[in-house]
Amino acid sequence: MMKAVRYHDYGGPEVLRYEDAPIPEPGPRDLLVRVHAAGVNPADRQIRAGLRFRLEKPFAFIPGCEVSGIVEKHGAEVTALAVGDEVYGMTGFGGGYAEYVAVAEDKLGRKPASLDHVHAAALPVAALTAWDALFEVGGLAAGQKVLIHAAAGGVGHMAVQLAKWRGAQVIGTASASNERFLRELGVDVFINYRTTAFESVVRDVDVVIDAIPREADDATDVLAQETMARSWAVLKDGGILVSICAKPAPDADAARRGLRGAYAGAQPGHDVLNRIAGLVDDGKLRPDVGKILPLRKARQAHELIQTGHTRGKIVLRVKDG
Ligand SMILES: NC(=O)c1ccc[n+]([C@@H]2O[C@H](COP(=O)([O-])OP(=O)(O)OC[C@H]3O[C@@H](n4cnc5c(N)ncnc54)[C@H](OP(=O)(O)O)[C@@H]3O)[C@@H](O)[C@H]2O)c1
Repeated sequence: MMKAVRYHDYGGPEVLRYEDAPIPEPGPRDLLVRVHAAGVNPADRQIRAGLRFRLEKPFAFIPGCEVSGIVEKHGAEVTALAVGDEVYGMTGFGGGYAEYVAVAEDKLGRKPASLDHVHAAALPVAALTAWDALFEVGGLAAGQKVLIHAAAGGVGHMAVQLAKWRGAQVIGTASASNERFLRELGVDVFINYRTTAFESVVRDVDVVIDAIPREADDATDVLAQETMARSWAVLKDGGILVSICAKPAPDADAARRGLRGAYAGAQPGHDVLNRIAGLVDDGKLRPDVGKILPLRKARQAHELIQTGHTRGKIVLRVKDG
């Protein structure tokens, strides 16, 4: 048996229980990872609340979609990784808040050598999502201009750094308390969304990334919807609005101007994870961990992520946590 955080019914953060659970058995192409740290994501609380991927009852579900740890054992068809390797990556949509998790080999990469497990666990979801939004879907190129809404959040702060690495001009929105943080990460133009309408400052943008968290509360949702609708106006003709929450529907004017709206999301895969690890080890990318909590305090982590106003990432320390 192992220690894990599980829930047996949907609900608020109070349904999370720190308890014993069976150690999972890896399939032929899986690795059993001894988890050292697990990242916390808005999706974890959305699933816990029953808003996404609802399971039939009864169930005992372990949340957590990203981890960093060490390979403990593996299935017979695993080829690239071995017992003792330090790995990081996505687990699917659950399983990470536990001492052990079984993960398909192709969803893991080698942990950046320059990071401890806590910081490595902060990377997979945020960096893979930012990568997909900026490059695979957004097609961002050197010299272009990108506006990143919610630049100080988990995905946003990765997007800022990846866009700078690509050679883009970066405009980021956040509240005043995050200005210094974002300037240190390299934003060229900072906009306090609480006091300044971004469209009064920005124009001729090639790519807009909407990373504003949804379903935190009604006021945030309304502002997020309004922000998305107002974003078309700052795009140059042919530009693209990429949301990591829902595919934006172009309005009539946007469609007439040839603007595109698209959804992007984390694509788990070792190729991009290994490229991200290389960028980290080269000093081009660093995750900010705003809060570290022991695994048994997962409830507190969910209460924090639910605010929709945390900086960088929240990580659960699992080994010795
Ligand atoms: N499609 C995918 O694969 C995928 C992957 C990851 C995340 N997501 C989704 O993307 C969203 C963001 O995820 P995340 O992990 O980055 O969330 P997060 O870390 O919880 O985002 C928090 C940040 O959002 C900022 N924020 C909140 N309202 C804002 C507004 N109106 N304008 C500008 N900034 C605002 C906050 O800044 P201030 O404190 O300064 O207000 C805070 O720094 C979530 O809804 C999540 O479910 C999707």
